[in-house]
Amino acid sequence: MKIIEIEGQKELTGTIRVSGAKNATVALIPAAILTDEEATICNVPEITDTEALCEILEVLNVKVNRSTESLVINPKDMINTEIEEKYSKKLRASYYFMGALLGKYKKAVMYFPGGCSIGARPIDLHLKGFEALGAKVTSNKNQYIVEAEELKGANIYLDIASVGATINIMLAAVKAKGTTIIDNAAKEPEIVNVATFLNNMGAKITGAGTSRIKIVGVNKLHKCFHEVIPDRIEAGTYLIIGALCGNNLKIDNMIPEHLEALTSKLEEMGIELEKGIDYITILGKNEKYKNTNIKTAVYPGFPTDLQQPFTVLLTQANGKSKVTETIWENRFMHIPYLKDLGADIEVKNQTATILGPTELKGTQVVATDLRAGAAMVAAGLLASGTTTITNVEHILRGYENIIEKLTDVGAKIKLKEI
Ligand code: UD1
Repeated sequence: MKIIEIEGQKELTGTIRVSGAKNATVALIPAAILTDEEATICNVPEITDTEALCEILEVLNVKVNRSTESLVINPKDMINTEIEEKYSKKLRASYYFMGALLGKYKKAVMYFPGGCSIGARPIDLHLKGFEALGAKVTSNKNQYIVEAEELKGANIYLDIASVGATINIMLAAVKAKGTTIIDNAAKEPEIVNVATFLNNMGAKITGAGTSRIKIVGVNKLHKCFHEVIPDRIEAGTYLIIGALCGNNLKIDNMIPEHLEALTSKLEEMGIELEKGIDYITILGKNEKYKNTNIKTAVYPGFPTDLQQPFTVLLTQANGKSKVTETIWENRFMHIPYLKDLGADIEVKNQTATILGPTELKGTQVVATDLRAGAAMVAAGLLASGTTTITNVEHILRGYENIIEKLTDVGAKIKLKEI
């Protein structure tokens, strides 16, 4: 079993370089099979979610070549075969193979995806989108067969601006006959990154990043070279850690505009930031942070994926702060562990009320999901004494070299096998 052990209260100073975005990468890898030629993707993070998707590519007989610089995907000899549950359950994003296989072969056979248990996480909007394009969906327990004689462009309105459904429908529609319009599309930067990749391969997608995306179907996609955008959630996590323990801590290779919902809250709390074109430096640790409230929302609102680490910061604010989660119904699993560390938090329905500031003292905690894990790391770095985190596989799914990156700026943090 792997654990992370942190000796807290060390001042963090120096530079942390942000990796490529997990949530873009996990869609770009399945998207690459839409061509029969080679796709080269650089800035791919080395995380277990990337490995899990490459395993699926191998099942589909797709050639994958990984170097430190890039991931080269060649689907020339690809075969369309069932993706077994043992692969799909490793991560949520395995469902992007549904859209990609449907788009390429008009047939996909796979199982319900896995991923963090942060809510029910249905895929009804994805399936409705496929059906609108002309596919028939048959499900038997966890298995889904999605097939079409012909995919035809359609007007699709998403009841919820779902990131996954927006991308999956884009993947299925890229080679459909005619024009597809997705209304109430999600606007996250990762969606723009995937649309740019597909356009680099010859797709005709406009409007990505707005709530109306137009896809004009094309017959063929060709080889391309593409770069993954920096991970805004990783950058945001390190900014929060910097606000807790940083002194001149530079978060480099990031896009500050992607994180305005977070940085405006940090500034409101009294955290001094220096913003550059591709970096933000946390200038120093303030002893008296102002309390604030956050409510998670779709982009460009406050990202749900930063809610859990942000709660840790609110334990250090003066007075009462509130966190309201509107996207996932089960995203407060980090709270009992923060309380074990000494935080004063009450959860009622979808709102956590945090009373601060409180001293945190190291103890044994659990990473119940990926971002809860990030919250535990942030709390452990702040707490006195030693914090031990179990279930760290969740953290390693999404944060490239987290131990090395934090060690390099002065943290005492170790990954141990026990
Ligand atoms: C993506 C991100 C995840 C982030 C989330 C919201 C990836 C791999 N993951 O997840 O980190 O927390 O966006 O920013 O990119 N919903 C339905 N039916 C559907 C699809 C979604 O009801 O068919 C609901 C979900 O239950 C949830 C909301 O819509 O309440 C948003 O989900 P969605 O945007 O789809 O999240 P993911 O794409 O799974």
